[in-house]
Amino acid sequence: MASTVILGMQWGDEGKGKIIDVLAEKADVVVRFQGGNNAGHTVEIGENKFVLHLIPSGILREDSKCIIGNGVVIDPIGLVNEIEELEDKNIKILDRLQISNRAHLVFKFHKLMDGLKENKLGGKMIGTTLRGIGPAYADKINRVGIRADELKDKVEFKEKFIFALDHYNSIFEANGTEKLDIDCEWKTIELAIDYIAPLVSDTVVSLNEAIEDDKTVLFEGAQGVWLDVDHGTYPFVTSSNTTIGGVCTGSGVAPKHISKVIGVVKAYTTRVGSGPFPTELSAEAGNSLREAGNEYGATTGRPRRCGWFDAVATKYACIVNGVDSLAITKLDVLDHLDVIKVCTGYKSKGNVSYSVPASIDQFEHIEPVFEDHLGWKSDTSTAQNWNDLPQNAQKYLSRLSELTNVKIDIVSVGPRRKQILFI
Ligand code: GDP
Ligand code: IMO
Ligand code: MG
Repeated sequence: MASTVILGMQWGDEGKGKIIDVLAEKADVVVRFQGGNNAGHTVEIGENKFVLHLIPSGILREDSKCIIGNGVVIDPIGLVNEIEELEDKNIKILDRLQISNRAHLVFKFHKLMDGLKENKLGGKMIGTTLRGIGPAYADKINRVGIRADELKDKVEFKEKFIFALDHYNSIFEANGTEKLDIDCEWKTIELAIDYIAPLVSDTVVSLNEAIEDDKTVLFEGAQGVWLDVDHGTYPFVTSSNTTIGGVCTGSGVAPKHISKVIGVVKAYTTRVGSGPFPTELSAEAGNSLREAGNEYGATTGRPRRCGWFDAVATKYACIVNGVDSLAITKLDVLDHLDVIKVCTGYKSKGNVSYSVPASIDQFEHIEPVFEDHLGWKSDTSTAQNWNDLPQNAQKYLSRLSELTNVKIDIVSVGPRRKQILFI
């Protein structure tokens, strides 16, 4: 049995897609279990750049099967576009992708609702990806969502769709927003659902059969710990459990089948959207990391906020998820720096603490305690093993491992498949 979970330990965009793609070389099945097309997982292969939103990154390995689990919220139109874009690049999808019949669907009214809620929040907006993720999960929890299983009876599906659309239209009307046209929306969604309906099945069965048959399974997390609806910087979070528990609820696989948890972290930190970020750099200082790391959102293109590695938050994140080892990405982005800082403690009202506050107000007023590391000022992007790394880079990585109390198994030194070290 070899089921490995790959989770982001920061605020998303840690480079999970690249790590999954590398590990998927030996995987039979790759599974997404939460989130939706708010995710943007980038994989660079040769001159080709792929950005996966709903489809597991394992799709780029032709021998891997891919599953979109029940915990994911699926925008049918987004999914069809993604499938077509990949097929245009000669990636075969249709016989390799399964969608859980228990996954909830995201519609245009969810996206409009997402925007409406953000507008209402004004200066306190979350800075969502506007993909309708929050409203779709709200419908699920409120027990009024529409699941992929409903696609097997189009007459009933249409009735439910129109009922939901009517409900949202009444909200749009009350808020002075333009209503959606039922016929027009149905025409668009009908094409998409006809396309994806044949992919829908009970993935709990196929996934557990694969595990029983000793297949190698990878679980691909989206977002990161600090965007988890329970453990993250609430309310500046996404609407799913991005942490370890989400794997089981979002795929129908029991905890006893998980053999390893890999936490992915950047060698520094980024965040997109609003909310606390203790180690954030000022606009100018952050620019150097942003440009070196090309830190622009894979889904929305927004510039990512940049800052130093936060060992307090990462240690906590690793505890929450029982992380066995770390994959540290984007080490090469630090190559040009004279000094690299790491946050080792949180100072608040004169006291230094090593725990993470639940209160957003406290989180926002944390003063990070930094230690300085000398940069290595040389190119790491061609390193193939630990001994190829400059001594200061080795010291830096060893310190991150010591502070987080987790060993490092993987170091990534560039976006390409070969730019990786296994330790
Ligand atoms: P994900 O959402 O966690 O999959 O991460 P994203 O794809 O949103 O963002 C990570 C970005 O960094 C992508 O553009 C990757 O191609 C890129 N990347 C991944 N690993 C490395 C690395 O080690 N070095 C550099 N320079 N870029 C990397
Ligand atoms: P990957 O999988 C980074 C952020 C949004 C916003 C908050 C809520 O590529 O790491 P949502 O649309 O989910 O309601 O937005 O979560 N966010 C991400 N940030 N990477 C992601 O995914 C994200 N998915 C959502 O910017 O702050
Ligand atoms: Mg991303």
